[in-house]
Amino acid sequence: MATNNSVAGHRVAVIGGDGIGPEVLAEALKVIGATGVKLATTNFDLGGARYLRDGEVLSDATLAELRKFDAILLGAVGTPDVPPGLIERGLLLKMRFELDLYINRRPFSGTAPGHTKPHDFVVIRENTEGPYVGEGGVLRRGTLDEVATQGSVNTAKGVERCVRYAFELARTRSRKHLTLVHKTNVLTFAGDLWQRTFDRVGKEFTDVATAYNHVDAACIYFVQDPHRYDVIVTDNLFGDILTDLGGAVSGGIGVASSANLNPTRSGPSMFEPVHGSAPDIAGKGVANPVAAILSAAHMLEFLGETKAAAMLRDACVEPVSGSTVAVGDEIARRVKANI
Ligand code: IPM
Ligand code: MN
Repeated sequence: MATNNSVAGHRVAVIGGDGIGPEVLAEALKVIGATGVKLATTNFDLGGARYLRDGEVLSDATLAELRKFDAILLGAVGTPDVPPGLIERGLLLKMRFELDLYINRRPFSGTAPGHTKPHDFVVIRENTEGPYVGEGGVLRRGTLDEVATQGSVNTAKGVERCVRYAFELARTRSRKHLTLVHKTNVLTFAGDLWQRTFDRVGKEFTDVATAYNHVDAACIYFVQDPHRYDVIVTDNLFGDILTDLGGAVSGGIGVASSANLNPTRSGPSMFEPVHGSAPDIAGKGVANPVAAILSAAHMLEFLGETKAAAMLRDACVEPVSGSTVAVGDEIARRVKANI
């Protein structure tokens, strides 16, 4: 099932997945190759297509294999032929939860529509709790009296480790500014835990300036005044929604990258573009590989390959157009020209 492709270097599990996933990952691996960084990659055939073939989504045995790697690079998973939720919960969320990838780090830089000045901010999305955990259930399904509940789970530990990570990140940036985004005016139990934790941890970071925005207001600011943000910390669902908007105001979802991190390094972290498998354009060679390449840059950075990570990011600054392969070739050329 797993095939080993090379001999030395960081051990990376590669999950191309479905749709455009394998196409964009091939370009990301090409560009990493251009930096001279050596990876020992192992391909894992997982995703909707695999599920349809033999029923495996992510078995405990495969998960145990994945734990042995330094990092996981993922293209995109999901196909329209598989019921919604099955691959998302069974593969992507299972990896996030089981590998304790509690930080979803999503940077956004670009010039929002209608603006002339570029913005540069990072969303730190809590990645293991909130409404994603699957708390709740259904009663009397399919009847007029059906009841469905889906609770948001927020633990003191889970909130604190996320908030602390965000403060630590803000401290390393030039503006040293952190905004908590929540909905404390309505979600009074969860919001109170987030706000109290934010205030308490913030006392240890007197060099970091703080702000608070309700999530609905943050949506307006993302469009009208994105420059106010430096680092944002928020819960899992708000972070999911906000980061699609972040992508939309920062050059589009084709360039939005993400890192699913276990900062304790008790296992591998996982790196993936924010976009999905885009089955409508799969196989046409037109998908933008930049989001996958920038996700690979996060991976290199996390693996300690800081210089190579910067080379990838620099090579993606000037936009490139053309086919998936042509964009990958051009970015690889820029990387090589820079060495
Ligand atoms: C994302 C995606 C996932 C999420 C889906 C595919 C489960 O939208 O990574 O943002 O909701 O987290
Ligand atoms: Mn999303």
